[in-house]
Amino acid sequence: MLPPSLQLDSHGRLQHLLTTEGLSAEHITLILDKAAQFFSPIGEITQVPHLQGKTVANLFFEPSTRTHSTFELAAKKLSADVLNLHIDKSSTTKGESLLDTLQNLQAMQCQLFVIRHPSSGAPHFIAQQLKGVPIINAGDGCHAHPTQALLDMFTIRKHHSDLTKLCVAIVGDILHSRVARSQIHALKALNTAEIRLIAPKTLCPIYIEQFGVKVFNHLSSGLKDADVIIMLRLQTERMRSPLLPSQQAYYRLYGLTQEMLALAKPQALVLHPGPINRNVEIQSEIADGPQSLILEQVTNGIAIRMAIMSLLIENHQP
Ligand code: CP
Repeated sequence: MLPPSLQLDSHGRLQHLLTTEGLSAEHITLILDKAAQFFSPIGEITQVPHLQGKTVANLFFEPSTRTHSTFELAAKKLSADVLNLHIDKSSTTKGESLLDTLQNLQAMQCQLFVIRHPSSGAPHFIAQQLKGVPIINAGDGCHAHPTQALLDMFTIRKHHSDLTKLCVAIVGDILHSRVARSQIHALKALNTAEIRLIAPKTLCPIYIEQFGVKVFNHLSSGLKDADVIIMLRLQTERMRSPLLPSQQAYYRLYGLTQEMLALAKPQALVLHPGPINRNVEIQSEIADGPQSLILEQVTNGIAIRMAIMSLLIENHQP
């Protein structure tokens, strides 16, 4: 649990976005409502002047397609200047520390930092050390991916206005998933009726039930009557030893096929944070099918990231 003073000020206002842990329903609703305002009546995301004259720096120490690109687009939609630091061409390759890099960028008058890092806690460390600048965690190790969880809440809320009536099933490699951890905290804060985790024992953290979730080791029982299904990929890059017999065996037991999807409620929503691995965790036809919101999530990510950046800059006004 974070010290409340790191992410929230003494009035409970968000100073950084490091995790969904400790956010209230009011914090989350504020962000979702703000994001909704960026959509025009025909569903286009509008250009606004909220961050005119500000510079946003993106520092991605891990690969990314969706998060990096949508942060850049979101900053540009807010009329900010954007600096994308190319880590492999930066002086971090000469041994410069993360903090020194950030201090130099702050000296270049960057006013907001978006950080993805393989080490859990890296954005927290920077938020502790660097004064006067908001930090957004764009994914740290296995720990948290708060903007992904918030865009997922936004996407669910667009289709079901009341999360307190929903059964949400998160399926796959929970053990290595920063997305799942952030989703669980957000779903709990929004009083979701039932949160289910479906995973093989080797891919589910022990004692996770303490977070108020139900664990299922069989896909068929876990999916029964679910309203929302969130699929996760196998994060093989984080597995230090083999945790599964094979990807084919995993697909047979945990892959979302038409037969498995039929066990959930009719018209159940299918989400996936991406990147998807077709026919490993999700049947290709379902990823492209009518119940899939995978690409809608990506679009919503722009508006959610606009909402978070504009809120943090508003809260940092002297
Ligand atoms: N969902 C997500 O974080 O995707 P990227 O790794 O492409 O940013």
